[in-house]
Amino acid sequence: MTTYRIALIPGDGIGRDVTAAAWSVLQKAADKAGFTLDGQEFPWSCAFYKQTGTMMPADGIETLRGFDAILLGAVGWPAEVPDSVSLHGLLLPIRKSFVQYANIRPHRLLPGVKGPLRSEGFDILCIRENTEGEYSGAGGRVHQGTADEVAVETSIFTRTGVERILRFAFEQARARRGKLASVTKSNAQKFSMVFWDEVTRKLAGEYADVEVTSYHIDAMAARMVMAPESLDVVVASNLFGDILTDLGAAIQGGLGFAASANINPDRSTPSMFEPVHGSAPDIAHQGIANPIAAIWSGAMMLDHLGEKAAAAAIMAAIERTTADDVGTIQGKDRTEAITAAILAQL
Ligand code: NAD
Ligand code: IPM
Ligand code: MN
Repeated sequence: MTTYRIALIPGDGIGRDVTAAAWSVLQKAADKAGFTLDGQEFPWSCAFYKQTGTMMPADGIETLRGFDAILLGAVGWPAEVPDSVSLHGLLLPIRKSFVQYANIRPHRLLPGVKGPLRSEGFDILCIRENTEGEYSGAGGRVHQGTADEVAVETSIFTRTGVERILRFAFEQARARRGKLASVTKSNAQKFSMVFWDEVTRKLAGEYADVEVTSYHIDAMAARMVMAPESLDVVVASNLFGDILTDLGAAIQGGLGFAASANINPDRSTPSMFEPVHGSAPDIAHQGIANPIAAIWSGAMMLDHLGEKAAAAAIMAAIERTTADDVGTIQGKDRTEAITAAILAQL
């Protein structure tokens, strides 16, 4: 029987609840499909930081390297540990170290789920650059705390980084409906974004079967609200992709519905699967987080591991659940109730 080694990092807040929910669904799907998921849990989180002074041990990345995939909940507890410490100590180094350059975030309305704006169909695949750009961590502050203070945050865009994410997006578009929207702000940012547009045009020649259109990020934000059905694959830089995918989550019914996969397409290192949302301190420890984003991310993990049938079975169970209106169930045992309904459908 095939066994996959999965590193589980529940993290903080609702990350813990939704990871447990996803893991129970994954276990059942694996049982039914006849493979084994061997999970090892790591307590790396803000609580771990408070005990040890680090978000993960010094050899944390090397430890994770031996796994087939990573399932993560959410990281961050800003009341006790600054986000600049917690995210730069755990989530962001995993994405970078394992060259998980393609962050794939699907946005569509599940059956029975009402978006806040519209109920018609749309099916968008956001591809977010995940290792460089505005998240390069380059910069600094001078004259700190004085009236002369200057803070600089440098975005770094490399030809390797831009070309590989655009190529990945073109391939996705080719496998879907053949439309790619490339998002920049090249009317205001004259180096990085002009460069991105140039690489987009260059690759367009190689993908003549894909219809590619460049949009400015501001116009794209409006389009995702006003005409989401006009979009197929949307590719954007790290920060723009981050913002657009919370918008995507909103139009699909909320943060609790948006899944994501952080992929290294060459498969030389583990990829990581996590919901788009964070630790949601405002609803933590109440049992009311929607676990669907995490469960859907788990299905993306199985798909990535090659267990296509089990992944499809989880998606079908989620969809039967939301169609029955259970997916939008409210109440103080919401996380458990939705998970139980999905398990029953499976
Ligand atoms: P958030 O995504 O945690 O929450 C935003 C809003 O969405 C909140 O009102 C929250 O209650 C709601 N929400 C989120 N997930 C939900 C779910 N599954 N079901 C129902 N409602 C849900 O964003 P935030 O408040 O900006 O961030 C909180 C912390 O999480 C911060 O420390 C932030 O840096 C971190 N964060 C981590 C990740 C990650 O680990 N991938 C992602 C985003 C934010
Ligand atoms: C996400 C999150 C992270 C990001 C934060 C927590 C650093 O918002 O995964 O979307 O911006 O990538
Ligand atoms: Mn985000």
